[in-house]
Amino acid sequence: MIKVITYGTYDLLHYGHIKLLERAKALGDYLIVGVTADDFDKSRGKINVQQSLMQRIDAVRATGIADEIIIEEYEGQKIDDIQRFGIDIFTVGSDWRGKFDYLNEYCKVVYLDRTEGISSSEIRSERKKIKLGIVGEQFLAEKVAHECNYVNGIEVSGVYTTNTDIKIGKKFDTFDELLNCSDALYIISHPTLHFKQIKKAIDLKKHVLCEAPIALSLEESRKLHQLADEKGCILMDALKTAYSTAYSRMILLAKGGKIGKIISIDATATSLRDINLISKNNVSHTWNSICAWGPTSMLPIFQILGTDYCKKLIISKLLNDDFDIFTKVEFIYDDSVATLKVGKGVKSEGELLISGTKGYIYVPAPWWKTDYFEIRYENPNDNKRYFYQLDGEGIRYELVAFMDAIQSKHHPTYISRDVSNAICNVIEDFYARKDFFELK
Ligand code: CTP
Repeated sequence: MIKVITYGTYDLLHYGHIKLLERAKALGDYLIVGVTADDFDKSRGKINVQQSLMQRIDAVRATGIADEIIIEEYEGQKIDDIQRFGIDIFTVGSDWRGKFDYLNEYCKVVYLDRTEGISSSEIRSERKKIKLGIVGEQFLAEKVAHECNYVNGIEVSGVYTTNTDIKIGKKFDTFDELLNCSDALYIISHPTLHFKQIKKAIDLKKHVLCEAPIALSLEESRKLHQLADEKGCILMDALKTAYSTAYSRMILLAKGGKIGKIISIDATATSLRDINLISKNNVSHTWNSICAWGPTSMLPIFQILGTDYCKKLIISKLLNDDFDIFTKVEFIYDDSVATLKVGKGVKSEGELLISGTKGYIYVPAPWWKTDYFEIRYENPNDNKRYFYQLDGEGIRYELVAFMDAIQSKHHPTYISRDVSNAICNVIEDFYARKDFFELK
């Protein structure tokens, strides 16, 4: 029996793919198709892939041509596969001519002529582009605009900002003008403006990606999510950490029992960057500690332990009524406990620790840009290290998720509404001084 193997992304499966698969099959008796996993593909720069791995596998399976489908997850896997499956022929399209000659050492390599006139890239670029307007004073606006270059299907319509140092394409004089020229908004403005701006955008059926917290109270957050449903719009929390591959794998491992039962989580995030801007009279555009870092730090806590804590205590060092230079929040659950520490005027080690009955997960600083973590046990020989590629600090993946959600009309699962609401609830209690203790 002659065994043949071929690899590809197979995004938005088209007849070029089908013809390739048919000819690959005709080279032998048994065809194995390797479908490239999302994160492996990102490292080849194919961030534009529009379908999930499962959708792409299903499409290849539906052709009925493959005898077996495998997932290509790491570089160098091809040699492993060829040896493991006893492959006689490796084949790909002629666009790869020469690139896989090194496999001749292990099996025969055949380049098949590529079908002219069609490719996944072309199909993707024919899809309607989403015009994204950016609102806000933070320099993150520039990073977001830059990351849009890597995401297929997004085009920046312009920016509305009062910060004259922000340089992004077209500047709009009013929020309304920007709205009129956009299909969707990325809101980075001060949290006190979020509710009003999101409501206005969604009322006009624009999709919204907003830096968390999306609102300053639970009620406002619920209202916005409900309004988005009524208008058929996507409303997503922008918390870039949630969209990084390493972070989501880490959450899955933690929830999957790798370190036993989780008893405690400690998340710390601080930055002194804006400290010069902070004075008693001028804090208008500067995010306080709880808004700037609270949502990020609450993310692993709520995603792992849930949002049903029985008790919490917010301890803050205040500069004035609205501005905390440091806040520590303790969440007490029935069977576990979590602490977050955030600061814009106090510095600490920005690490994440998840402690369980069998071991612990350690994510070194800055954990919110997670590309690496370790699972550690009593016996250091059992320790494991995990590394995943992270491009564009995660903003790129966040934008891809936003595009996917708009196109599929499905609210993405990265950050649940429960978590989004619970974050706003804690922020509300901070301002209401509920469960609160002020450090003198
Ligand atoms: N292929 C082909 N003819 C085409 C397009 C793809 O024979 N018109 C082949 C490729 O050479 C490869 C396989 O199909 O062996 C999977 O290719 P993939 O990269 O997934 O598809 P493309 O359409 O080339 O995707 P992109 O435009 O993103 O590069």
